[in-house]
Amino acid sequence: MREKDFDIKNPKKKFQKTERVPPEGYDMIWMGQNTNHLHDDTIADAMIDAIKEKTFCRYPAPEGFSELKQLILDDLGLEDLEVLLTSGATESLYLVMQALLEPEDNVILSDPGYFIIGDFANRFAGEVRYVPIYYPENNYKLTPKLLRENMDENTRMVILIDPLNPLGSSYTEDELKEFAQIAKENDLYLLHDITYKDFAREHFLVENFAPGQTITIYSFSKIFGMAGLRVGGVVSSKPIVDAIKNAVINDLGVNIISQYGAIAGLKSKPQWYDQMRETCFENQRLINEMIEPIEGVFLPVYPSDANMMVIDLSGAGIDPKVMSNYLIEKKLFTREGEYTSEEFGDRYLRISFSIPTEEIKVFCEEFPKAVEALRTK
Ligand SMILES: Cc1ncc(COP(=O)(O)O)c(C=O)c1O
Repeated sequence: MREKDFDIKNPKKKFQKTERVPPEGYDMIWMGQNTNHLHDDTIADAMIDAIKEKTFCRYPAPEGFSELKQLILDDLGLEDLEVLLTSGATESLYLVMQALLEPEDNVILSDPGYFIIGDFANRFAGEVRYVPIYYPENNYKLTPKLLRENMDENTRMVILIDPLNPLGSSYTEDELKEFAQIAKENDLYLLHDITYKDFAREHFLVENFAPGQTITIYSFSKIFGMAGLRVGGVVSSKPIVDAIKNAVINDLGVNIISQYGAIAGLKSKPQWYDQMRETCFENQRLINEMIEPIEGVFLPVYPSDANMMVIDLSGAGIDPKVMSNYLIEKKLFTREGEYTSEEFGDRYLRISFSIPTEEIKVFCEEFPKAVEALRTK
C-alpha cells in the first residue's frame, strides 16, 4: 500500500519554471533569445583549427586558460582580480548564490528581469524581493532610491543586470556610484551582470566603485555570438572567488574548444566590434521608425543599450503570447513578456535585433500587419 505521495514541489519557488522551448528548424528569424547572428567565420575557424589539432583529447585547465582569463580582465580594464571560467554566465550565477547566500538573507532583483538569477537566489536565500520597475518615472530600471525603499537589515545582495534583460535600460556612472555607496554602508554584495555590456552606448563597472563587494558576471553568449558553446565566467576579488570555487561541480574545467573560440573572440574584437554595434543601432532605429506610427504600441526604452528591446502592446489590447504565436507562423521567433516578468509580462513582447538588417526588414514589414490582425482596442 502506498503510504503518502512524496512531495517533490519546491515550496520556496516563487516563479514556476516556464518551459523555454525554442521553435525547431533553422528557417526562423531568431529574435527570441538575445543571441547574436552577425559574426563572420573568425571565431568558428579558430575552433575548427582547435578541433583539427585534437586539443580536445586533453582536459582543459580546471579554472580556465590563463590567457583567456587575462584577456577577460583586459577587456574589462580591470587588474588584480580573479576570474573563474564556467559553463556560461549561468553556471557562475548559480555558484555565486550557492557560495554567498544564507537562509536568513534576502536578495533584491528587478521585475522585469532575468528570473533564472532569482530562481537560483531563491534556492539559497530566504527571500528574493522582486521590485517592480516597469515605470517611466524610474526609467524602467532599479534605482538607488527603489533599492533603499525595498531593502532591510537582512538584505545581502543586490542584482544589477546592466543592461537589463528584457528592457535594455542601463546604469549611469553616478547611479553605480550610489549603489556602491549603499553597498558599502550596508555590507551588501553587488552582483553586476554585464552579459550585454558591449551593446551599450556607454558602460561602467561597479567593481571600480565597490571593490571587494562586487561580483561581475561575464558571458561569451551575446556580443561574441557563442551562446551554444556555453562559456562565461565570474570576476571578483580573491576572497570572493575562493569562496565561489568551493561550490564548483565542474571540477575538470570548461569545454576546451569553447575556450579557444573565446580567446579568438577577444583577440579579434577590435576588427568587428564597431561594425557589429553599428548594425545593432541601425536595426533598432528601423524598428523604432516602424513602431512610432502604430497606435497603442510603444517602445518603453529607446534606444536600448542591449541587443534587445521591449514592445509594449497593452494599448492595442493584444496578448503578447498571442502575438508571439502569430509571428511564429510568419517564421519570426520572439518572446512574450511572461519569460521576464510576472507582474508586467502580459503587456509586452521582447525582441532581439543582433541579426542581419535584411531580417529586421522582414520583421518591420510583418509586425504592423500582425498588430492590425490581432488588435482588440
Ligand atoms: C542577464 C543574463 N545573464 C546571463 C544570461 C546567460 O548567459 P550564458 O549564456 O553565458 O549562460 C542571460 C541569457 O540570456 C542573461 O540575459
